Amino acid sequence: MSSISDQSESRARPAAKTNPDQSIQPKLVKSKQRVADHGEVFTPAWMVEDMLNLVKGETERIDSRFLEPACGSGNFLVPVLQRKLKAVQARHGRSDFEKRHYALLAIMCVYGIELLADNVAECRANLLDVFASYLKVATTDPWHRAAERVLAANIVQGDALSMTGTDGAPIVFPEWAYLGRGKFQRRDFRYDNLTERASFQGTLFAQFEEHEIFTPAKSYPLMSAEEIAA
Ligand SMILES: C[S@@+](CC[C@H](N)C(=O)[O-])C[C@H]1O[C@@H](n2cnc3c(N)ncnc32)[C@H](O)[C@@H]1O
Repeated sequence: MSSISDQSESRARPAAKTNPDQSIQPKLVKSKQRVADHGEVFTPAWMVEDMLNLVKGETERIDSRFLEPACGSGNFLVPVLQRKLKAVQARHGRSDFEKRHYALLAIMCVYGIELLADNVAECRANLLDVFASYLKVATTDPWHRAAERVLAANIVQGDALSMTGTDGAPIVFPEWAYLGRGKFQRRDFRYDNLTERASFQGTLFAQFEEHEIFTPAKSYPLMSAEEIAA
């Protein structure tokens, strides 16, 4: 089985959850100023694992979509991707073709919003590392470039409260799907519309799919991984 590497010591569960040293783990806080300005305190790995285990089945489903609206450097999204890639390996590991396509689908189903540019860059890089070491692809490989393109669209710098990007425009997320035979579908939706959908679920209006909140802001022709990379 291909290994999906764990990334830092701060991901290890401490001997006791009440260990007072946890509050001074340097990797959980970058600076006091950032804590004061942005509430930037990262979640320790053992707590992330416990929380993800509450939705274990979903984390192990390749095409379940996860959005972290204050994603930091990816302390939740990285282990979600690792779990998805374990599922890829178990279900599609015997076929190189399927393994690559489903690994790309796994990364397509991970979304984040983050206010600070350096955290956005770290989050994308951390996710890319996990993907690249799983598929053993170099930076020049089209699969690496395809994953980079996906992450550039899925991990957005912006304000999750106002649901706008750095330019003040509404945040837009791509909804990716793998249709088989090497073809991916992409349709873009506004984040504010996606959040409104929940209030329609279970109501008579759920069937009105022509409503603007179900209408993509943009649809793309079917694409191969090479076309996404390009
Ligand atoms: C408490 S940290 C949590 C980071 C990560 N989710 C974790 O658990 O390790 C909060 C993060 O949200 C970011 N943030 C703060 N306000 C935000 C906003 N309005 N929209 C998006 N991100 C925000 C901060 O920059 C910081 O990285």
